Amino acid sequence: MLTNDQLAQWDRENFFHPSTHLAQHARGETPSRIITGGKGVFIEDRDGKQLLDAFAGLYCVNVGYGRPEIAQAIADQARELAYYHAYVGHGTEASITLAKMILDRAPKGMSKVYFGLSGSDANETNVKLVWYYNNILGRPEKKKIISRWRGYHGSGLMTGSLTGLELFHKKFDLPLAQVVHTEAPYYYRREDLSMSEADFVAHCAAELEALISREGADTIAAFIGEPALGTGGLVPPPAGYWEAIQAVLAKHDILLIADEVVTGFGRLGTMMGSDHYGLRPDIITIAKGLTSAYAPLSGSIVGDRVWKVLEQGTDEFGAIGHGWTYSAHPIGAAAGVANLKLVDELGLVKNAGETGAYLKKAMTEAIGDHPNVGDIRGEGLLCAVEFVAERDGRVYFDAAEKVGARVAAALLAEGVIARAMPQGDIIGFAPPLCITPAEVDRVTAAMASAVKSVLG
Ligand SMILES: Cc1ncc(COP(=O)(O)O)c(C=O)c1O
Repeated sequence: MLTNDQLAQWDRENFFHPSTHLAQHARGETPSRIITGGKGVFIEDRDGKQLLDAFAGLYCVNVGYGRPEIAQAIADQARELAYYHAYVGHGTEASITLAKMILDRAPKGMSKVYFGLSGSDANETNVKLVWYYNNILGRPEKKKIISRWRGYHGSGLMTGSLTGLELFHKKFDLPLAQVVHTEAPYYYRREDLSMSEADFVAHCAAELEALISREGADTIAAFIGEPALGTGGLVPPPAGYWEAIQAVLAKHDILLIADEVVTGFGRLGTMMGSDHYGLRPDIITIAKGLTSAYAPLSGSIVGDRVWKVLEQGTDEFGAIGHGWTYSAHPIGAAAGVANLKLVDELGLVKNAGETGAYLKKAMTEAIGDHPNVGDIRGEGLLCAVEFVAERDGRVYFDAAEKVGARVAAALLAEGVIARAMPQGDIIGFAPPLCITPAEVDRVTAAMASAVKSVLG
């Protein structure tokens, strides 16, 4: 490992980083962050600095860093059979076993798993399956997908369109025409502050109804949503939201895609977010926590209703024209099997519920009284702190003040990584599911200092 500045120079000269200010990075105005190791909830950079990663990478390293069991499973698989494809009925012990393990953990009514590489490609698959489904059913007009403002579903052409965040549309000519957006279930940011939670839920359902009637139910194929909003602000839905939304979807024969890329496999304190909030999805997107990001792997869990039509389609038109070279990659699948076993053995779903509740409580005790803390919210090991210029009347800071980014930088200086969420002054926490209460105390103490140093 090169430890002099040549590596940083090569980085600036050669590496096109995702979600990065490209010009500043190329000019060397932002530091190269070169990470060399990780253990439990900590990562280490090349200077030997230890950081507590309270965002688990990109909320994906659920079992924590440095698990030898997963490393061993990957190495064994690479030695035995690094690759074979999954086309025309091929599989490996790892991919077949993992499909079964996923269905054993999925909500009732799910039928099969299609494997991809990322959350984005899994959602692309889901949209294609929904279109195929309606074509087979003889409803070629029923194709639009409803997503929510502030939803995050990836950054491809279709999935970037489904994503409801400005940054992912601006200057990319997105969203595409087949996608329409509806109100986010974000009670804190409701326009009418006099609304109760129940009023707001009714308002979200009414907005959805109005959108469907404007577009025509016969043009709408599916609704996609994260059980709890992730990148849009880490926002658990208000009570009764999913019941109200599902009633509208059922009335208009609209499929539900639950995007569980973040919530799948324990993050909310239940195995799946769908179980947590009573969703009855037709398709579920999974990625991140499926392998804890030890290898890239995603999946589309297809429910019975859609699966039957897919079978009918191939009886009529032949093999389905959809596949990736790396679908069900054996190394990813081996990582997935070892990871899901660890999640069970270490009791991480339960820990996410218990330590998650502790995190929210400890965060509230640490900074809840600060005049610029507008909201502290969370579910399981998802927690967010939203800052406002004034609590009364919920006055937001000017975005140019970059309060969220400054708090995240101050937190980093305290040795803790959290994420300044992309829209609003919101600091997100989503640590590995193995975090302990003592480690949570470090996070909340660091947050108290960071808030004080930025906002007084
Ligand atoms: C809910 C959700 N869906 C999809 C994605 C896209 O996944 P990927 O970045 O693996 O393409 C993400 C990524 O953060 C996500 O949070």
